[in-house]
Amino acid sequence: MNTSATPAWPLPTLTLREGALWLEETSLEDIAQRFGTPTYVYSRAALESAFAAWKQALAGRRALVCYAVKANSNLGILSVFARLGAGFDIVSGGELARVLAAGGRADKVVFSGVGKTRAEMRQALEAGIRCFNIESAAELERLNALAGELGKQAPIALRVNPDVDPKTHPYISTGLKGNKFGVAFADALALYRQASRLPHLRISGVACHIGSQLLDPAPMAEAAEKLRDLVEQLAAEGIALEHIDLGGGLGIRYRDETPPSATDYLAPLLEVFAGRNEELCFEPGRSLVGNAGLLLTRIEYLKPGETKNFAIVDAAMNDLARPALYDAWHEVVEVRPCAASAAQYDVVGPICESGDFLARGRMLDVAEGDLLAILSAGAYGMTMSSNYNTRPRAAEILVEGSRALVVRERETVAELFSGERVAN
Ligand code: LLP
Repeated sequence: MNTSATPAWPLPTLTLREGALWLEETSLEDIAQRFGTPTYVYSRAALESAFAAWKQALAGRRALVCYAVKANSNLGILSVFARLGAGFDIVSGGELARVLAAGGRADKVVFSGVGKTRAEMRQALEAGIRCFNIESAAELERLNALAGELGKQAPIALRVNPDVDPKTHPYISTGLKGNKFGVAFADALALYRQASRLPHLRISGVACHIGSQLLDPAPMAEAAEKLRDLVEQLAAEGIALEHIDLGGGLGIRYRDETPPSATDYLAPLLEVFAGRNEELCFEPGRSLVGNAGLLLTRIEYLKPGETKNFAIVDAAMNDLARPALYDAWHEVVEVRPCAASAAQYDVVGPICESGDFLARGRMLDVAEGDLLAILSAGAYGMTMSSNYNTRPRAAEILVEGSRALVVRERETVAELFSGERVAN
């Protein structure tokens, strides 16, 4: 690797200084030394600039950016977005509790998800959230009944399934007919009429989300046109909406993808709704946090194999599941790069599964004890981690200039089984 100039990583606040990686004004080697590995490390400046790109793209339009908490739900990150004025898209009572604990405002929360329980609905009604994104007729009835019991009116949007192909990984496409998400487009009008007759609901909007890691703005623009037609039909029937929620989905660069900027992604959508007054809501997750974070890990062993070499690191599929789950590519960078005698490695963890890899077939010049940074790990990294093999979950650090804040302590083994009992 060329150490004289900083390569174009997808994380702009990551730079090479005196031969090693720094995030903002903080050395990754120092972080590893102080807090150990594996550790997730996030750049506050990168979070803020990703949010600013969305705000700028929406300037002049009444709009609310509701950060999709599932992408990264650490309180440190939520509080950064809360301070920037973000709303939040949640999918569980747990996520609502996190948002409130981090200083987020309930009246800027939208609640998505196909399986909201009564307890979660009650919690959200009592908190006074902005909107329930309803995904079925049964959910509509349940919410109406519960709101009645609590003497409240529940604000709702129907999440409609526009049946467009988002052209992304099948596991993360959500807007096609065969998906469990949303209500069928053809049923939406009838369901709105039904909702308008239910006394404890207040129709607030319409929502859709077609998938994640979208690299082409066209499918979303197609979905937006369908939504606009529906909004016009509803208006003609006297059902006026306050907001239109266009979901999340904007992709990021992991390897060599060329995702649209927030401005280019949003331009065709703003065009579709030009001249309409409803507030536009969005639920971005990955595009706000994905490239603001990395996973710092240390090489435990190098193991030359018969057909390939392995770099066995102290992070594993329990820390970052995306490679095992989606065969996802994450860039791997040596924290102190040198390219003298690079060889090809699979970067693997210590877990007892052949699927436990973080990267395959990478050219690295490494030795036992070296540090690696797994890039683009800010979204769906820590939130999808597990304790498989009784591995305590990683620490999380938020870098702000030269400060490194522990926003989550490394778990201890004792914590892992503190709620368990020995059977007599
Ligand atoms: N809104 C709804 C209703 C969603 O289901 C999602 C993501 C989002 C917003 C945020 O989408 P984003 O802007 O992050 O694309 N674990 C997978 C991604 C699953 C996405 C699930 N829904 C991964 O690691 O790629």
